[in-house]
Formats: sequence, structure tokens, C-alpha cells
Amino acid sequence: MESRICINPSILNANFNDLENEIAKVSEVSDFLHLDIMDNIFVPNFTFDLKKAFEIISLSKLPVDSHLMISNPDEIAPLYAENGSASVTFHFEAATDVGKTVSNIRSSGSKVGLAIKPATQLNEIEKWIEKIDMLLIMTVEPGFGGQSFMQDQLEKVSQARTIIERFPKNKPNLQIDGGVSLETIGDAARAGANCFVAGSAVYKADNPAEMVSSLRKFAQANYRF
Ligand code: DX5
Ligand code: ZN
Repeated sequence: MESRICINPSILNANFNDLENEIAKVSEVSDFLHLDIMDNIFVPNFTFDLKKAFEIISLSKLPVDSHLMISNPDEIAPLYAENGSASVTFHFEAATDVGKTVSNIRSSGSKVGLAIKPATQLNEIEKWIEKIDMLLIMTVEPGFGGQSFMQDQLEKVSQARTIIERFPKNKPNLQIDGGVSLETIGDAARAGANCFVAGSAVYKADNPAEMVSSLRKFAQANYRF
């Protein structure tokens, strides 16, 4: 399958008291809703418990990718798959048994994403790339929205794209998350990312839907793979 651009808004910095409306603002123009799940252990911040997360998944008109920044993904990730998350992304650094977690998510009916923090090197996870649907390279330290894009992660993005392009088919998506904006998305697309999470850029914009479309335009103009 040929990689294509996807723009996935994160509701981390949206208004949590009016999520249905916040999600509706971007539903027509986005690919996935990016749902950040933090447990205050793997990262120093907390977002939603299971009950609230599953409520958000069911009210979203967009398919949901749950980004699990939690310390026990082996146990919890399959629950997200069973509760309607179209894709479940867990952190390599937190998993005890990556292979088992990949297959548990898949057998519960969801696509599988594997995420790495800025300090994690590609060679640590290279063997998993052919087994997943998406590789997520964090371009900030996970935990908070509104941080600056880490330019030094682009080399990793570019190496990951080289690896993925060697696959004859079933190329996983290559996503970045953190500090994505009109200023940074072009460089990331040129390096080979084809999926982009954007939180504050979208929800701080006067018109979130227009911002999603502009981000997509900039990504498309710079992506050459
Ligand atoms: C950070 C989260 C991100 C966050 C991105 O740990 O994983 O998804 O919402 O926010 P921005 O786009 O503001 O960097
Ligand atoms: Zn995220």
C-alpha cells in the first residue's frame, strides 16, 4: 500500500468539557482522532481513565488512534482494541512483551502502532517495523502539549523512511507527534513522515478545520516518497 498523508488532531489541548463539539470541529477534514492516554507513571501527567477514554472513542465520528503513554500497555492496550479504538499505539519503552502485545491488539481487531521516545534509537525496534501498521517517532518528550519540535529527531525519521521503503508492500505509516505546526511539518514530510499528530496548532487556531487542511497542504507539498 502506498503511504499517504494523514493529519490526526490531538485533543490534549482542546476543551475537555466539550469534547463532542471539539472533535466535531475537525471531523470532516481529518483522518484519525489522536487520543492521548497518560497514567501519571510513564509520563508526569494524567488524562483519562478507561471509562472516560471509551466514552470518547464511542462519541468520536472519526476513527480513533489511542496513544497509550502508560506503564502497563501489555495488559491495557487490548482493552482499547476491544472498545472500538481503530488503532492502538503503545510505547516500546513501557512494554514487557512487544510481540505479544502487537498480536493481542491485532487479534482484538485494531491496527497496531509502536511509539518511541526521543532517546530510543531505531535499531532497538527495527525488527518490529514489519509487524506493525504505524511507527510513531515522538518529536517531543511525551507528557504535554505545546512543546517545541525536536529537530534532531528528523534524522531518525529519515532512517525509518529508508527502512520502510525497502518493504515491497504493506508499508507501515510513519507518524510524528509533538510540536507539529505550519513551521515544522514541511521538514518532517521531507524527511519521510507521512502522518502527523497536531494538538495545539489545531486547537489554538481560530479555525481548527482550516488549520488541518493547511497542514495537509504543506505536508503534501513536501512529501516525495
Ligand atoms: C504529547 C502528546 C501529543 C500532544 C501534541 O505527549 O503525545 O499528542 O498532544 O501536542 P502538540 O501538537 O501541541 O505538540
Ligand atoms: Zn500523542
